[in-house]
Amino acid sequence: MAIVGAGPGAPDLLTIRAHQRIREAQALVWADSLVSPAIAALAPADCVRISTRSLTLEAVMQVMLQQARADKRVVRLHDGDPCLYGALHEQICRLAEACVDVEVVPGVSAYQATAAALGQALTIPGTVQTVVLTRASGRTGTPEREALRRIAALQASLCLYLSAHHIEAVQEELLLHYPPETPVAIAFRISWPDERLLITTLAAMAATTTEQKLTRTTLYLVSPALAASPTCCSRLYAPSHTHLFRGGHNQATS
Ligand SMILES: C[S@@+](CC[C@H](N)C(=O)[O-])C[C@H]1O[C@@H](n2cnc3c(N)ncnc32)[C@H](O)[C@@H]1O
Repeated sequence: MAIVGAGPGAPDLLTIRAHQRIREAQALVWADSLVSPAIAALAPADCVRISTRSLTLEAVMQVMLQQARADKRVVRLHDGDPCLYGALHEQICRLAEACVDVEVVPGVSAYQATAAALGQALTIPGTVQTVVLTRASGRTGTPEREALRRIAALQASLCLYLSAHHIEAVQEELLLHYPPETPVAIAFRISWPDERLLITTLAAMAATTTEQKLTRTTLYLVSPALAASPTCCSRLYAPSHTHLFRGGHNQATS
């Protein structure tokens, strides 16, 4: 059994390994609301296709185990990278209980695809060196120690998943620490044919979301990096910064 990251949407953002697993699948278990049909179409024509769109986790597990016990090469597709917001833990635990071996294949996550679409680094020397991946508390909640108002105090490059429905509360909490003019990228269905990428400020983040009716599959990138001065350069390439492979002796980079 393979749990495979399908990336943000575009089939050519799959890893070669993910592509191979899909091409060899005999049973494909996937959420057709989240993963592009163009990716599912890479599976062989005679592959059994099971949509999880309306299934509970228990029902999904039943289907996966049924196919695995029938000796099928099962591929469970998750959007982006399976280690983020995709119920990987629950599935791995249940598969371990059932003594089914699992391979996890990573995928390009939405935050990486968004930074690439912007042509933008998330870490810039002297400006920001920390990236946080998180979500609004919403219906499922987050631990209190991870409340956005606490995370905001870092003023890091903040990648917000699953937050569009709660964006007004999110904006309010972030404004406790980030300046209102902090740039925000709003990425809707990045790498899909109908992708939209908007740049605004933190002060206008919620209003822009509402105006543009962005409620699903939207990632927010809140970061001082998006406004970094062109003079902020990586020390790694500075002529004065010697290391093992350039001009120094024992100073390996770390
Ligand atoms: C259930 S989570 C899964 C995240 C996924 N595992 C990943 O690594 O990208 C779904 C959320 O991821 C974000 N997302 C996934 N694909 C996206 C895309 N193509 N464009 C923008 N946001 C996306 C949105 O915040 C969406 O609500």
